[in-house]
Amino acid sequence: MAGLRRILHSLWISLFFLCLSSTAEDSVTQWPLHNDGYNKVVEWDHYSFQIDTQRIFVFSGEFHYWRIPVPDLWRDILEKVKAAGFTAFSFYSNWAYHAPNNETLDFSTGAHDITPLFELAKELGLYIIVRPGPYINAETTAGGFPLWLTTGDYGSLRNNDTRYTNAWKPYFTEMSKITSRYQVTDGENAICYQIENEYGDQWISTTDKTPNETAISYMELLEENARQNGIRIPLTSNDPNMNSHSWGSDFSNEGGNVDIAGVDSYPSCWTCDLSVCDSTNGAYVAYQVVDYYDYFQDYQPTLPEFMPEFQGGSYNPWGGPEGGCPDDTGADFANLFYRWNIGQRVTAMSLYMIFGGTNWGGIAAPVTASSYDYSSPISEDRSIGSKYYETKLLALFTRSAKDLTMTDLIGNGTQYTDNSAVRAYELRNPSTNAGFYATFHVNTSSGTNEAFHLKVDTSAGSLTVPSHGGVLRLNGHQSKIVVTDFTFGSAKLLYSTAEVLTFSILDGVPTLALWVPTGESGEFNIHGAKKGSIKSCQGCSKVKFIKEHGGLTATFTQSYGMSVLEIDGIRVLLLDRTYAYEFWAPALTTILVQGPYLVRGASLSGSKLAVTGDIVNSTTLEIFAPKAVKSVTWNGKEISTRQTEYGSLKGSLSSSKSITLPKLTSWKSKDSLPERFADYDDSGIAWVDADHMTTLNPRTPTTLPVLYADEYGFHNGIRLWRGYFNGSASAVNLNVQGGTAFGWTAWLNGEHLGSFYGNDSAEQASLTLPFTNVTVHTTKSNVLLVVHDDTGHDETTGALNPRGILDATLTDSTGFTHWRLAGTAGGESNLDPVRGVYNEDGLYGERVGWHLPGYKESSWTSVKGSALSVSGATVGFFRTTVSLDLPSDHDISISFVLGTPSSSALTYRAQLFVNGYQYGRFNPYIGNQVEFPVPPGVLDYSGENTIAVAVWAQSKEGGSISVDWKVNYAAGSSLNTRQINEASLRPVWTEKRLKYV
Ligand code: GAL
Repeated sequence: MAGLRRILHSLWISLFFLCLSSTAEDSVTQWPLHNDGYNKVVEWDHYSFQIDTQRIFVFSGEFHYWRIPVPDLWRDILEKVKAAGFTAFSFYSNWAYHAPNNETLDFSTGAHDITPLFELAKELGLYIIVRPGPYINAETTAGGFPLWLTTGDYGSLRNNDTRYTNAWKPYFTEMSKITSRYQVTDGENAICYQIENEYGDQWISTTDKTPNETAISYMELLEENARQNGIRIPLTSNDPNMNSHSWGSDFSNEGGNVDIAGVDSYPSCWTCDLSVCDSTNGAYVAYQVVDYYDYFQDYQPTLPEFMPEFQGGSYNPWGGPEGGCPDDTGADFANLFYRWNIGQRVTAMSLYMIFGGTNWGGIAAPVTASSYDYSSPISEDRSIGSKYYETKLLALFTRSAKDLTMTDLIGNGTQYTDNSAVRAYELRNPSTNAGFYATFHVNTSSGTNEAFHLKVDTSAGSLTVPSHGGVLRLNGHQSKIVVTDFTFGSAKLLYSTAEVLTFSILDGVPTLALWVPTGESGEFNIHGAKKGSIKSCQGCSKVKFIKEHGGLTATFTQSYGMSVLEIDGIRVLLLDRTYAYEFWAPALTTILVQGPYLVRGASLSGSKLAVTGDIVNSTTLEIFAPKAVKSVTWNGKEISTRQTEYGSLKGSLSSSKSITLPKLTSWKSKDSLPERFADYDDSGIAWVDADHMTTLNPRTPTTLPVLYADEYGFHNGIRLWRGYFNGSASAVNLNVQGGTAFGWTAWLNGEHLGSFYGNDSAEQASLTLPFTNVTVHTTKSNVLLVVHDDTGHDETTGALNPRGILDATLTDSTGFTHWRLAGTAGGESNLDPVRGVYNEDGLYGERVGWHLPGYKESSWTSVKGSALSVSGATVGFFRTTVSLDLPSDHDISISFVLGTPSSSALTYRAQLFVNGYQYGRFNPYIGNQVEFPVPPGVLDYSGENTIAVAVWAQSKEGGSISVDWKVNYAAGSSLNTRQINEASLRPVWTEKRLKYV
């Protein structure tokens, strides 16, 4: 097996260095550290990244600022990332979001200004992996390509075609320039810069290494551009699988190589529609892990095992279960798979996603619905739960286990255990001799409860642990990492069967936090210790101390809560899972905190300790701090604390306020589809002639003119086509394409002809609609109105698939005389630079700005009853305003809840607008999503809010929708969401909108 060969190889390497030098310490420094030739601050070898001479475990998570367009909330996300123990975060920038047209680049308006991300990273102490594309995938429309790029005028994209090169250059240059101001080489926090995304195209044939010159030239253009514009940190790549072997210099010296090539992996598939999970990893088997170690040894032996994307959840397809699929990628997944990577010797990984956010407006590609919750550790509504906490258990460990950044895989298998269902991977630091034994079921798909003992090598010799009557357990889809010779401050654990959570040195003495699930036993030995005592026994029983192995062994059985032992002055905290979940080690201080739902940060100034965080329920707060601390504030308010006999400070925090939202009433409505009538005047500036008789799009039109919407500058969501014809006709055949879950409806001279309601697999639909029940004029022009939406452009090579009418044919007619088209008001002119390119579709109401705050709807019809209803097949627009006066000092999260009253038709499509932001696409005929989180900043918690809903009834039965809202959580918090009310994020209606009738 390649694995064994590699293990021997690494042993050989270790021996080689031992022979070369006298001490193990020397040996490791002789391994060549590499750098990119531009700086020596970021270096790497096969063990890890090293920054400023310090090896680091890069535990990162991805989040997309453009999926939460309120810059003040980026702090919330990043504080949560930091609090969980991560050392870094990564982000894709989205070219389309910044480039409404080929002449404009916006990196300054509202959330388009990304500099706060870099500034926050510095303030909070998180490294950044910048991923500028220009192609990003990300389940975003056209994979992040601006939609003006999808017409064919720029070629087939992702190659060295000059038309494409000239298009990406301004954006990529700007991203490089911005990033160049925030590099770790200058004391800032960006540590690497990813070129392209999953562009595993270096080879025409990997087997005989036939280079793909076009792809190589494209990569070289991007790399040159990055370097020319100031990027001095390493360039990286993310191979989509372990077969494409692209851009890594260990594999070949062909052109286009980056400095550090990485591999992405989604072992549980990337979508919660598991039926499609069979391509990259073979058929889906729950909890089946993938071997990475051999791959890295074989193909990237001089690089750290770097996973620029490792599964953090999975996206929710149209028709998929609401809230994603947490069962497949929940807390157990996090526990098992992230530990698995450690066993595989991975020292740099970024969870995709740490926070998914929302596919608001037209951001999504057709594969995913409105929610991009992604079952991430931080949910779309910004709440945290078991998955976040479970991830935190491991992230805090990796942050404190410095020795983990330099290990060799010594061996793996069941020979380490006395249970043939359990195996271990033994990692050892060649410099310190610290050992890490990552234990797993032999078949990781199995979730049985297995008891075992583990054979470990320690500085006190080989031991089988636990050795005093207890057992180690893997109960369910779980893994445990057993440490040996683990240093914490001046002390050392000879071994511990309870997992290390973290430690801190307070007044020169370590406090060590260990955790083990309730009901299980734990055993650890502190090297050199002599005496132990129980200081508090809330969650322990059967505590015994045994002098052996030149130190003191403690054994215990964990009950509920936290117990405190003192061993030669060292404080050891024993926590169950629940207490460990609520245990915090705020970085940049030494304090440890148990109790709150979230601790965001802490700062110490003399005798004053200031802690910030969130409380949902009344909580006891326990703080382990230096003795000098005499007073404690929580979110700025002093709290009374008492000192426990083992030196911690205890206080209590009261629960958050309960919030009741006002009812959403007083709706007004107006018809929003005047375009269906033959006498509607479409000569205004909102409309263009759809008159192209040729196209560069690779799909050859079967009827003319070309009715591809992007050709005419209308890229987002709903478009309206008016086709004119004279004289008689008996039917029309329309073939419309809009991506999975799209729909369309046609009217002739104001009368409803028919609809395609959509489903979760059809991207295109052709219908022949007879004119039997409608009036065809013979003495004046007939007008056919086709309204269709799209669910975004396809990703990768599908980006150019047109959106619009592919074929339009009249039966028994001389054909259409001409077509007019309307879409987003102003087309590419970027009428609303704040909310940006994805926000608006082309409905009449949107074009004239009925979705915006400040429009006066007083002349509209008042809605009676609670549901918002339209009769017949048309589009209705509804508006109401509602004032909020929510408490300060709270983080409050709100979702809208949309529904269809019973016995009403499901054949409608609705858009939800909150203060002008399109924050939900509700397709009850297709999808299951009924809850739509809307962040503060989009909502104003201390002022008036405009809520608008467009209902496009696709059938004669009309459409009826109920609109409500609810509080997801209210936490007493240092994040004061009432203050996130920057009015500039919510520009108001102006009269200039009226031109777009
Ligand atoms: C990866 C890709 C990401 C995202 C992910 C699935 O292959 O790089 O952008 O699409 O799959 O969520």
